[in-house]
Amino acid sequence: MLNIPQDKLPHHIAIIMDGNGRWAKKKGLPRIEGHRVGMEKIREIMDICFKMGIKILTLYAFSQQNWNRPPREVNFLMSRFGRYLDKEEKDLKKKKVQLRVIGRRDNLSSSLKEKIKRVTLSTQNNQGFILNLAISYGGQEEIVDAVRAISLAVKKGVISPQDINKELFKRYLYTPDIPYPDLLIRTGGEFRVSNFLLWQIAYTEIWVTPVYWPDFNEEHFLEALRDYAKRDRRFGRIKEK
Ligand code: FPP
Repeated sequence: MLNIPQDKLPHHIAIIMDGNGRWAKKKGLPRIEGHRVGMEKIREIMDICFKMGIKILTLYAFSQQNWNRPPREVNFLMSRFGRYLDKEEKDLKKKKVQLRVIGRRDNLSSSLKEKIKRVTLSTQNNQGFILNLAISYGGQEEIVDAVRAISLAVKKGVISPQDINKELFKRYLYTPDIPYPDLLIRTGGEFRVSNFLLWQIAYTEIWVTPVYWPDFNEEHFLEALRDYAKRDRRFGRIKEK
């Protein structure tokens, strides 16, 4: 499918699935149609990840700031998340996918929280692939939550301020055991990170495509992977002679 050696492929890909609204507008459809078609894309992109041996996919499905959208759009997305969990649970299990959900749960309905709990528990031992959904997620909020938890641990005497370093900080994030993303893809053409995985993307390679998420397909995905394979990831170092 792609002539790229496995060690040149990303292990963890994060995606900002942007452009659903514009895609719908272009077609004269309501915005929620863009989200509906966008949701169908998840299975397609995950299947390519399986074929390519990519092990972790983190998707930005709903940000903390998206709560400020019109109630109709918010309600549609929330009900779709629930429906996705009900509909896909069997398939996720069959494909050995471990589902995780990151973000602040307090604003979610109790029914959605229940479904998240059910599917994350029923897939927690799957080792084939991690699908990490960011719902009600904000990168700054995640960092604030980590700081709160660390402060509490200091107050309780579990750790001392001298123990705080990057490795310890990572343990207090929503993804303590997941390697940081190697590649961040943003569809919809905007050059910004929109409060997504702020700590985790310090050295992540970024790929932006003008293609709207509902139009994003295998060809676009492979184009991103080909470009990633050519990148020289130095992590602040220089190349050794
Ligand atoms: C950004 O497009 C997209 C969203 C805010 C929602 C993304 C959600 C999905 C694709 C569905 C995910 C589903 C599951 C089950 C995880 P936008 O609305 O900001 O588009 P615009 O920039 O063109 O207005």
